[in-house]
Amino acid sequence: MSRFYLHLLRLAGFLPILAVAAGLKRPTNICQRIDARIPGRISYPGDSIYNDSQSSYYTAQERDLSPGCIFRPRKTSEVSQFVMLINADGRESNASYSTPQFAIRGGGHTLFTGAANIAGGITVDMRAMDSLVLSQDRKIASVGGGAIWSHIYSQLVPYNLTVLGGRVPGIAVGGFVTGGGVNFLSRRHGWSCDNIYGYEVVLASGEIIYATANSHPDLWLALKGGSNNFGIVTRFDVATFPQGLMWGGVIRYNYTKSVLDAQAQAFSDFMDPKNFDDAADMGIILGFQNPGGVFSIANSLWYAKPIVNPPTYQSFTSIPSLVPNTFSINNVSNLVLQFGKILPPHLARSFQLVYSFKNSAAALYSELIQVWENGTKGIAHIEGLQLQFLIQPQPPTNGTNSLGLTPGATDVVMSVITAAYTNAADDNVVRNAIRAIVDQHVAILRTEGLYNPFQYLNYADISQDPIGSYGPAIKARLHAVSRNYDPDGLFQTAVPGGFKLFR
Ligand SMILES: Cc1cc2nc3c(=O)[nH]c(=O)nc-3n(C[C@H](O)[C@H](O)[C@H](O)COP(=O)(O)OP(=O)(O)OC[C@H]3O[C@@H](n4cnc5c(N)ncnc54)[C@H](O)[C@@H]3O)c2cc1C
Ligand SMILES: *[C@@H]1O[C@H](CO)[C@@H](O)[C@H](O)[C@H]1NC(C)=O
Ligand SMILES: *[C@@H]1O[C@H](CO)[C@@H](O)[C@H](O)[C@H]1NC(C)=O
Ligand SMILES: *[C@@H]1O[C@H](CO)[C@@H](O)[C@H](O)[C@H]1NC(C)=O
Ligand SMILES: *[C@@H]1O[C@H](CO)[C@@H](O)[C@H](O)[C@H]1NC(C)=O
Ligand SMILES: *[C@@H]1O[C@H](CO)[C@@H](O)[C@H](O)[C@H]1NC(C)=O
Ligand SMILES: *[C@@H]1O[C@H](CO)[C@@H](O)[C@H](O)[C@H]1NC(C)=O
Ligand SMILES: *[C@@H]1O[C@H](CO)[C@@H](O)[C@H](O)[C@H]1NC(C)=O
Repeated sequence: MSRFYLHLLRLAGFLPILAVAAGLKRPTNICQRIDARIPGRISYPGDSIYNDSQSSYYTAQERDLSPGCIFRPRKTSEVSQFVMLINADGRESNASYSTPQFAIRGGGHTLFTGAANIAGGITVDMRAMDSLVLSQDRKIASVGGGAIWSHIYSQLVPYNLTVLGGRVPGIAVGGFVTGGGVNFLSRRHGWSCDNIYGYEVVLASGEIIYATANSHPDLWLALKGGSNNFGIVTRFDVATFPQGLMWGGVIRYNYTKSVLDAQAQAFSDFMDPKNFDDAADMGIILGFQNPGGVFSIANSLWYAKPIVNPPTYQSFTSIPSLVPNTFSINNVSNLVLQFGKILPPHLARSFQLVYSFKNSAAALYSELIQVWENGTKGIAHIEGLQLQFLIQPQPPTNGTNSLGLTPGATDVVMSVITAAYTNAADDNVVRNAIRAIVDQHVAILRTEGLYNPFQYLNYADISQDPIGSYGPAIKARLHAVSRNYDPDGLFQTAVPGGFKLFR
């Protein structure tokens, strides 16, 4: 074992020396102490549950981190006990040892290192907390803090109901909702986080509280964009919406200048407020793929009514396209599964950057695509390179969140450029190339007065600053909520992963 690894274990409170020195009759490390108090929820390297959890992260960066053990709670009380054991361990440790460190994971869909996993600490895998309970009037779904959206949809289809969850399989409620959340119905109802009535949260003290607009409203609002900074959310009470069959799927085109120009015009028109249609959610997906060095262009088009090829999309669907497309009239559950089939199930190395801007004329999109294409050519030799430049509407919001957005705006666009590739040795080259593209995009948008400083947390890289992008007043409010509910900063220091408030 390397010295570095030993040091990590020691930081995480894994070494038994102190317990022995203090003559305490307690199991030798924190994982064993948790196992003794909450039996059957800890797994270790080599166990099949540990392996399953590790292999289910979306990226290799997260899979490559090996926690000392994985804690898989089934009940809120177990999460509370866990946090109390962590605190007790911190107190009992010799001053030169710090509180054990842990990560909180949902669906493990964040790309960057350490967001939801940790080397040598404890990973709390929330996915066994996957319950779904409908209120008597069926207007509220109480969803376990680790539930996977694609499992929830299928249970709601028989009721003709849906919730604002992820658009591909495997995304969990926890990360998605605490960071924002874009769904098929977001142009009608806003971000997923705008539509949460209540959060059951385990605080840093281990206390379990229920935050709503009326009870702990400061925490309720902070959780709408504040990520994992305030506690472990063990239950989300989310709004349900009537939803029958939908129409949607993916359509591909030849990557030619005339197609790109037609897409630029169609998207600019689609985003024009005079054409706003609240049943529509879509994206332009520009791609580049090795081996082969092939550029591609596609649209994902979804419509929340069972109408084939609705008028709002006809300027896209009338562009000569490749056969087959994947359009169907379908239930939400099946549309999500279908969309998942066109995406890679896992990525190796990956990196992505997000930015937002106000819609403009077609020429703007043509210019952004030109810059992307040119920048892509500079890294076209990278092994296993898969680039995706996604251009999609940003949800309008009614402002019931901490994202700092102007309520009501329907013409804001969100772009995210994602790179996946094979070798860690290419990290710098790829990252610098993507940064250069995005820097150039942002420079153009600033010059045109279109740039919107908001950075969507769930698409942001750790090198970006989504919480800062909410604005200084909201950031200060989030700091105050943290000091109030987590005075010792447990979720700032013992949970190092993700976007921290104090950085
Ligand atoms: C293929 C793919 C498709 C995507 N599609 C969409 C989409 O349609 N719409 C959209 O908005 N986003 C989408 N995303 C982005 C997605 O919203 C984020 O990756 C989100 O963080 C995933 O949440 P998770 O719980 O699965 O991730 P995780 O990586 O497990 O968690 C994300 C963060 O949330 C924290 N967290 C998780 N659970 C809890 C909890 N219970 N309490 C407190 N903190 C918690 C974690 O500590 C971590 O920092 C997509 C991502 C991928 C890779
Ligand atoms: C878990 O993975 C390790 C390393 O890949 C392997 O040696 C072990 O056999 C696996 N355990 C089970 C139960 O599959
Ligand atoms: C703390 O550690 C120091 C040096 O490692 C040791 O001398 C001391 O006895 C320890 N105290 C306790 C309470 O374990
Ligand atoms: C959703 O539709 C698919 C077929 O398109 C069907 O097999 C499935 O049973 C439907 N799901 C539910 C929950 O009705
Ligand atoms: C759901 O909608 C279908 C089609 O409109 C209808 O036949 C069915 O009775 C509805 N189910 C419920 C539970 O409302
Ligand atoms: C915003 O929408 C949510 C969910 O629909 C609702 O509860 C809230 O009252 C709305 N807020 C405003 C300011 O309209
Ligand atoms: C796409 O390109 C191929 C190869 O050049 C061509 O045969 C095909 O007709 C094109 N399809 C469309 C819809 O433009
Ligand atoms: C094209 O990309 C290269 C880097 O690969 C960059 O140096 C150059 O400025 C770019 N040119 C334009 C017009 O974007």
